[in-house]
Amino acid sequence: MPDCVIETHELRKQFGNKTAVANLTLAVGRGEVFGFLGPNGAGKTTSIKMLLGLIAPTTGSGTVLGSPLGNAAARSKVGFLPEHFRFHDWLTGREFLKFHGTLYRMPASHLAIRIDELLTRVDLLDAAERKLREYSKGMLQRIGLAQALLNDPDVVFLDEPTSGLDPLGRLLVRDLIEELRQQGTAVFLNSHLLSEVEVTCDRVAFVKKGEVVRELNLREEPPVLGVELKLGATSRETLEGLTRFGTNLALQNGCVKLQVHDEELLPQMTRWLVGEGVKVYQIGVVRRSLESVFLEVMGGEERPG
Ligand SMILES: Nc1ncnc2c1ncn2[C@@H]1O[C@H](COP(=O)(O)OP(=O)(O)OP(=O)(O)O)[C@@H](O)[C@H]1O
Ligand SMILES: [Mg+2]
Repeated sequence: MPDCVIETHELRKQFGNKTAVANLTLAVGRGEVFGFLGPNGAGKTTSIKMLLGLIAPTTGSGTVLGSPLGNAAARSKVGFLPEHFRFHDWLTGREFLKFHGTLYRMPASHLAIRIDELLTRVDLLDAAERKLREYSKGMLQRIGLAQALLNDPDVVFLDEPTSGLDPLGRLLVRDLIEELRQQGTAVFLNSHLLSEVEVTCDRVAFVKKGEVVRELNLREEPPVLGVELKLGATSRETLEGLTRFGTNLALQNGCVKLQVHDEELLPQMTRWLVGEGVKVYQIGVVRRSLESVFLEVMGGEERPG
C-alpha cells in the first residue's frame, strides 16, 4: 500500500508455548481509520504492543511511520491509549497531562495551550484541578484519550477507547475519531463495539488466533442486503430464476430469502416476479451488520481466550 503509516510482515509473538500472535501481515494507510477486530484473546493488544515497540516480536518485522518497530523518533508522532491504563492517581488531570507532555519533550508554552484545548475537547476542563483518584471510570477513560492526542500524533492506537463510557462519552469518541480522520491522522482501533466500528472505520481486519482471516473495506464494499419475500404460488422454475438477482436462496417459514449485492436489483427483481405472474405480498430488506460478518468469520467454535 503506498503511503503506509503501519506495515507488518508475518509478525509473531510467542509467550512460552502460547502463541499470542501467529502471523500478522497488514498495512494501514495515512489518515485511514482501521478497525482491528477479534474475539477475546485473539492477540489484538499483543499486536498493538509490538507495533509500539513495547514488546519485541518473536519473529517477523514491521514499520510504523516508515521506521522499524520501536524507533524512538517515530514514537514521538505516535499516540496510544492502552487497554488497562494505570493512572498516577495522586496527580490532578492537568498535572497528569503535563507529565506526559514533558515525556514528549513538548515546549512548556505550547503544552499549556494544548492541555487546555484537549481538556475542553474531552469535557474535563471543570475537573482539571481534581485528583485522578476522584475521577469516575468514564472521566479516566477521557483523560486517557486526551493523553493519547497530546503530541498531535500522525497515528494513534486506541485499545478499547469506549470501554466504560456512557452513550454520550461514546459519541464524544466517535466525533473525536472523525476529527482525526479529517486532519489526516490514522487511527488503529481495537474495539468490541461493532456497531460503532461500523460507523467510524474505513476498513477492518478480523483477527483470529493471532492471524488476519478477513479484511473488509467498509467504504467501498457494496453492502450485502438480506431480502425476504412473501410471495403467492411460485413455480420451482421461477424460484430458481431468482438466483440471477442474488445468492444464498432459501425457503424459510413460507418466506423466500436471498442475499442481494446491489440495491438497484430490487426493483428489477420485483418487476421480473410480477412479469412471471407471481403475486408479491411483501418485500423486506435488512442490511447485513458487521456483527453478523464477525460471527460468520469467527465461526461457532471460538471460546473466549
Ligand atoms: N504477557 C503474557 N504472557 C503470557 N501470555 C500472554 C501475555 N499477554 C497475552 N498473553 C496471551 O496471549 C493471547 C492474546 O492476548 P491479547 O491480550 O493480545 O488478546 P486480545 O485480543 O487483546 O483480547 P481482549 O479482546 O480480551 O483484550 C491470550 O491468550 C493471552 O492470554
Ligand atoms: Mg486486548
